[in-house]
Amino acid sequence: MSDFASAWAELAAIGRTPAGYFRWAWSDGELACRSWFTAAAAARGMSVETDGNGNLWAWLGANDANAVVTGSHFDSVPGGGGFDGPLGIVSAFLALDVLRERGVTPSRPIGIVAFAEEEGSRFGVACLGSRLLCGELDPARALALRDRDGVPLAEAAGLDPAGIGPDPKRLAGIDAFVELHIEQGRALADGAGAPVGVACAIWPHGRWRLDFAGEGNHAGTTRMADRRDPMLTFAYAVLAANKAARLRDARATVGRVAVSPNATNAVPASVTAWLDARAADQSTLDGLVDDVLAKVAERAARDGTAMSATVESLSAETGFDAGLRNRIVELLGGPPVLATGAGHDAGVLAAHVPTAMLFVRNPTGVSHAPGEHATDEDCAAGVAALADVLTDLACR
Ligand code: GLV
Ligand code: MN
Ligand code: MN
Repeated sequence: MSDFASAWAELAAIGRTPAGYFRWAWSDGELACRSWFTAAAAARGMSVETDGNGNLWAWLGANDANAVVTGSHFDSVPGGGGFDGPLGIVSAFLALDVLRERGVTPSRPIGIVAFAEEEGSRFGVACLGSRLLCGELDPARALALRDRDGVPLAEAAGLDPAGIGPDPKRLAGIDAFVELHIEQGRALADGAGAPVGVACAIWPHGRWRLDFAGEGNHAGTTRMADRRDPMLTFAYAVLAANKAARLRDARATVGRVAVSPNATNAVPASVTAWLDARAADQSTLDGLVDDVLAKVAERAARDGTAMSATVESLSAETGFDAGLRNRIVELLGGPPVLATGAGHDAGVLAAHVPTAMLFVRNPTGVSHAPGEHATDEDCAAGVAALADVLTDLACR
């Protein structure tokens, strides 16, 4: 078994079901991955700490200044793939092994990080841990977040509420951040046939909670003309979002919905749905969302329902540091350079420290679903590329 395959096998069963991985932030599965992290760090003589926002760090050398940091996240979407997040963390530890095997000694601290709640599947805000670290999320808002069962963030994460918030000292000690991630599309598989690519940009994206209110009533006795059915307005919203995205070559998804009271023989009283929208630039994204909300408001008036929209998470357009990207592209011999519609902690860090991303080829192109895949050979190529980058950034 290759080094990659045997390290990967240690995590493969954690949180896995036939319907995909369930590793919500601070779930048993994610905590088991964190234990693996602690053991992997100890085996390499690294110190480990959890910061005030629940992000887990391992350090080779003192973590005071001029560090090069790599890593990703362990949490998954419900029913997700195994690679989105963990690949970047496993590859980080294996890249350190490669440095040791090559006899390369770091001249500055190297950190490995597992960011908390990157997917935002539990508390609704994407990249929660990295946003808090970087001061991009009001701690008061974070403290008010509840998961689907009403559990507050600090309680779920076992965090001291007073410690949640910006961590400028930690951030100032990081000179560069590099996140390796599985590609969440088929650009590498369909294009140049390269196992590893480099990111240039992340599309702006966001999440909106849509609350549709109507009147609950009997399915058999309420005449169609007398209904105020929020399910109709919801169904229209799904179609309107799809059309608005297609017209702009953008993305719109309604992947989560809650119906109340959720009875087969009752007109629902309310429906809550979550819209995820993304586009190549901010004005296209704004236009898409404005268009959908205006059309749904018109439809709600016709249905006798009400719709309100609440922003839950916004991620601005990210352009990764051009100097760092060009340096890595040259170092790796000119791999493909890609923009992505997927969000990453690297996108949050990029506004604060020079940041880069490496993508590993995904032959299925599928992500956030069990079909997500990368071959052992491509993952090993990713580890080698990350080791080259760490050598260049931290060992001179
Ligand atoms: C995270 O993977 C996202 O793009 O939502
Ligand atoms: Mn990810
Ligand atoms: Mn993801």
